Amino acid sequence: MMDVMADRISPQRILEHVQRLGEQYPPIALDSVDRRVREPKAVADRYGHVIDYLARVELEVDRNVLELLVLLPDVQEVDRMFYADVWQPQEIQHGLILDRLQQDLGRPAARPELEVSFGIKVMGALAHFSTIQDIARLLYYLTGASTERQAVLAYNVLYDGMLNLGEPAIADTIISPIRRQEPGHFAFYRMSATELIQSGALKPWQLYLARVLRQKTYHLVGTNHQDRYRAQMGGVASVLGFADDLEKYAREVGRIEAQLLWAEQSGMEFPPYVLKALKESIDLYRERGFDA
Ligand SMILES: [Fe+2]
Ligand SMILES: [Fe+2]
Repeated sequence: MMDVMADRISPQRILEHVQRLGEQYPPIALDSVDRRVREPKAVADRYGHVIDYLARVELEVDRNVLELLVLLPDVQEVDRMFYADVWQPQEIQHGLILDRLQQDLGRPAARPELEVSFGIKVMGALAHFSTIQDIARLLYYLTGASTERQAVLAYNVLYDGMLNLGEPAIADTIISPIRRQEPGHFAFYRMSATELIQSGALKPWQLYLARVLRQKTYHLVGTNHQDRYRAQMGGVASVLGFADDLEKYAREVGRIEAQLLWAEQSGMEFPPYVLKALKESIDLYRERGFDA
């Protein structure tokens, strides 16, 4: 198992990473997409709900930016550069492209949640204290790493799935360009969280508070602390085959933060709350289905 802490990350390296992402991965243009779908009904039957879910989550990037502005009132330049110049422009195109695909498949347009939640506003009020903002930053990076990893895993399965269904246009002009952009996002958050921990800027009480908050607020990508989305996420995990081995998925998603946040619990492969969130989602899906 790789050890994130063994790799020293400098602020300069993060900055160069962000610049490189901006240069190498321009936002995907809507008209670069080949919209030919051979069997819309078959695609919708197999992956319709998954595409709905991903389209909504990608379109919620605009809310994520608002949350970020609330949570990090004194945002660092490199963080600003990342979300404003790289991340938001890329993610919004992912959302628009997937949203159009779902409508091409005869499904309704996505309805993203664009309202900043009360919990975020409270945290944001506290984040005006710089000691709290440092904690908020760490949680923001960990959330980013976890959600981007989930995106990478989903698009990998979806790519193969579209090829297997005989839909090369979707696979090669939608899923493939999108999935190429996700690992760079993941790497940004992984490096930023690692650098923050390695710098020693956080005192033991701040790390303690970060652990408590993380445990209380951890959520899977796009669930927005609501049961209906948790159920849908359970469905996505089931359709994509992750439900067959939840511990494997929890390891993939939670490994980084197990090493960064829970380092003294040696040998922890993923934080228990990751597996718990997954199990809850799967249970809700089994009870309620996708249309919870
Ligand atoms: Fe994305
Ligand atoms: Fe992303």
